[in-house]
Amino acid sequence: MSLTDKVVVITGASSGIGEATAKKLARKGAKVVLGARREERLDKLVAEIEQAGGQAVAQVTDVTDRKQVTSLVALATSKFGRLDVLYNNAGLMPISELHLLKVDEWEKMVDVNIKGVLYGIAAALPVMQQQGGGQIIATDSVAGHVVHPNTAVYAGTKFAVRTIMEGLRQEEGKNNIRSMIVSPGAVETELYSTITDETTKQNTYDSERSIGLKAEDIANAVAYAIDQPDNVSINEILLRPTQQPM
Ligand SMILES: NC(=O)c1ccc[n+]([C@@H]2O[C@H](COP(=O)([O-])OP(=O)(O)OC[C@H]3O[C@@H](n4cnc5c(N)ncnc54)[C@H](OP(=O)(O)O)[C@@H]3O)[C@@H](O)[C@H]2O)c1
Repeated sequence: MSLTDKVVVITGASSGIGEATAKKLARKGAKVVLGARREERLDKLVAEIEQAGGQAVAQVTDVTDRKQVTSLVALATSKFGRLDVLYNNAGLMPISELHLLKVDEWEKMVDVNIKGVLYGIAAALPVMQQQGGGQIIATDSVAGHVVHPNTAVYAGTKFAVRTIMEGLRQEEGKNNIRSMIVSPGAVETELYSTITDETTKQNTYDSERSIGLKAEDIANAVAYAIDQPDNVSINEILLRPTQQPM
């Protein structure tokens, strides 16, 4: 099955990479099921996709709540009859140095970036196993491969996601379930707005605006991976702005 007609659940679909991917996949004929916390943004996106001739449905979903994630996946099967792809994309990046002790932010990153991905896997795996296949994708990061001052906890969550998704690949390949991470460098989105340390926030904003990729660049990579034949499992795409050194 090619991308056309696939049923794709996307978390973190209300802005940035998730929103761009929803539009891209819907334009190519996929049926998209969209989750995030901001209802107005989701409603606006569904309306835009439908006006362009695509099919989309949305449900308010906080990925830190396992029941809400399960319910989002259930919406895919009740509305469209199956679940071909789960794209675990929701994330936040309130980066800061450890000595600032922003412990609440560390906990949020663990809850959204790691546990949110696990809840998605828990919701999708039984459905995909019963169907005889599927694909689970997570937005990882270059920070899932290298750590810098400021990024210890954020990078820790993204290293964890990379490990979990590789474990998933090894375990579930035999069930025709494909596992992939997409690891972007800097992308021009709203992600910097979750940073509360003002100097870091400004530096991140400046860097994203001067060299950052567009969210559509990541959407293209995700669409490419989904569009492969079932026996081809793209396991990772790492993409940086050409001028990003690390
Ligand atoms: N931008 C970059 O430079 C970059 C680089 C590498 C990796 N990434 C990763 O890319 C992913 C998407 O981020 P983005 O850059 O597109 O930033 P973004 O525009 O801020 O999007 C983040 C998305 O996550 C959602 N989200 C946050 N907390 C959530 C929660 N508790 N439950 C459900 N959804 C939640 C947000 O929606 P609501 O607020 O409406 O819930 C939003 O849709 C993240 O995993 C991020 O770590 C980004």
